[in-house]
Amino acid sequence: MNALVQSLAVVGSDLDLERFLADGFALKPQLADHLDLSLPELERRLPSSTAELAALHPGAFDPAQATAFYEQEVGTGHLLDLAAWHLGSAPYIADTLRLQQRFARGQVLDFGGGIGTHALAAAALAEVENVWFVDLNPHNRDFVAKRAETFGLGAKLRCFRDLEDPALPAQFDTVVCLDVLEHLGDPAAQLEVFEQRMGPTAIALLNWYFFKGFSGEFPFHIDDPLLVERFFSRLQSRFLEVFHPLLITTRAYRLAA
Ligand SMILES: C[S@@+](CC[C@H](N)C(=O)[O-])C[C@H]1O[C@@H](n2cnc3c(N)ncnc32)[C@H](O)[C@@H]1O
Repeated sequence: MNALVQSLAVVGSDLDLERFLADGFALKPQLADHLDLSLPELERRLPSSTAELAALHPGAFDPAQATAFYEQEVGTGHLLDLAAWHLGSAPYIADTLRLQQRFARGQVLDFGGGIGTHALAAAALAEVENVWFVDLNPHNRDFVAKRAETFGLGAKLRCFRDLEDPALPAQFDTVVCLDVLEHLGDPAAQLEVFEQRMGPTAIALLNWYFFKGFSGEFPFHIDDPLLVERFFSRLQSRFLEVFHPLLITTRAYRLAA
């Protein structure tokens, strides 16, 4: 860790909304350090990161290739893309953190956790015992594990490739899955997995964007009407929405009786 990153490190309990809105939890210096870039070089690369990620994608979405794409092809590209998004749309991300703050407790799963914004914020909450960050991309896991250590949250926030890992709890009290479902080969099947891993009073925070973008800027999103219909059919038959007052697309669910 370089001196700048060290000097910007705060203790985990300070990872609140104000801090996120101020600097994304010291995101720029931590990412520059992790990628071995200078801060000006990182600033230069952030604006083009979404287009660069899209350019990596082969084009048509092939559900069978989705795992390999995120695990092997994307590399560190997603770190830059997600950093640009979280910093550029900080008020929106902050609302998802407000929602998480409202519901998160006990054992929290952050599935497809990306750069770790939600996992770190959850780990800073007193109501949360452990955060289980799951992401296919090894670069994302390395970065988030390093961020957790920097904030003194290494014991509370641990990183895994997938839900099959035996170290993970059998059931979670909170499932966070934000901006991930549209990246999966079969989002309905993922809901089924969440259903099996949610305790009786657990809450899942979910959102989705089954659309490739008005200019095709998200070629990696699924939009197959059959897959989307299966997803909604499963969601509406097995989960019950829990009202929350935040005007955002992310929804809270519990298991239907
Ligand atoms: C658009 S990002 C969202 C990241 C984060 N949840 C957020 O809101 O910023 C999608 C993430 O899902 C991860 N991902 C994609 N497929 C996955 C899978 N099958 N299992 C676990 N993670 C996956 C990607 O590596 C990526 O970090």
